[in-house]
Amino acid sequence: MATSASSSLPRARRILPASAGVIGLVLAVALNLPVGSVQAAGAFESLRAPGEAGFIAAHRGDRSAAPENTLPALQAALDAGMSFVETDVQLSKDGVPVLMHDATVDRTTNGSGRVADLTLAELQTLDAGGWFAPEFAGVPVPTLDEYLALLVTTEAMAIIELKGFWSETDVAAVSNLLYGYSLHSRAIIASFTLATVAHAREAAPAIPRIVLRRDLPADPVRFARFYDAIAVMTKAATIERRPELVETMHEAGVGILLYTLNTEQNWAEALAFGVDGIVTDAPSDLDSWLAATAPGT
Ligand code: G3P
Ligand code: CA
Repeated sequence: MATSASSSLPRARRILPASAGVIGLVLAVALNLPVGSVQAAGAFESLRAPGEAGFIAAHRGDRSAAPENTLPALQAALDAGMSFVETDVQLSKDGVPVLMHDATVDRTTNGSGRVADLTLAELQTLDAGGWFAPEFAGVPVPTLDEYLALLVTTEAMAIIELKGFWSETDVAAVSNLLYGYSLHSRAIIASFTLATVAHAREAAPAIPRIVLRRDLPADPVRFARFYDAIAVMTKAATIERRPELVETMHEAGVGILLYTLNTEQNWAEALAFGVDGIVTDAPSDLDSWLAATAPGT
């Protein structure tokens, strides 16, 4: 049987960017259409049905291969053909977006202190790789700008999680970078901090948003619409308790993603629910598992 060009690619690489969804997203941005016209089905290629594989989002890059949120981790995810790569962004003391998950540098560098209290120059003196493995010693804390310079050479989508509170002016620093690289159609801004999502809606209306919630409110569709978000991202336990929410959100055109799922049992459950995307620390393993478990979807 002939193998199509698409099906010969790794599963992670198939979804984007030649999909109608991304083309729709690009058009919506280019034509300056209302934000609401950029729907989840466009950004995610489609909304999934139960049993249909969701997209894979590599969590903090591929943190199984290299230190999280560093350029080697991001490059590993991109090289593996992941269609979505998630990363965490904070502002340095002097207002430069840098990649780091924790509010302090203590866990993932050889330094100490809050990211927000350190200038870019101070952050760049730190070793953000030696804690992970000796061969990564000396890997620096990357700026968002440096990451986007990698991303622009690929076809992947970025989920950019803004940690903590960001003003409209703060968000503009990120959106300016995205527009500068013409990556505004390949990025989604996410945050747990609702004020930050609201400020992203105002400062960067054409860049899609995801609202992160450990648990979902009673009416997640109304909630997502309030923030003009294309999707919500939540824990698996939320959907285990309220499985009907997947269909409810999909009927309303709102996507649903789960974080951070790392076991086959979790992946099987997500597949059965028909969620649109899975954030994982083991992107290559999930890719192989989906290829074997849900071939052709
Ligand atoms: O993308 C969502 C996920 O990354 C949220 O959890 O704490 O790893 O940023 P956290
Ligand atoms: Ca994150």
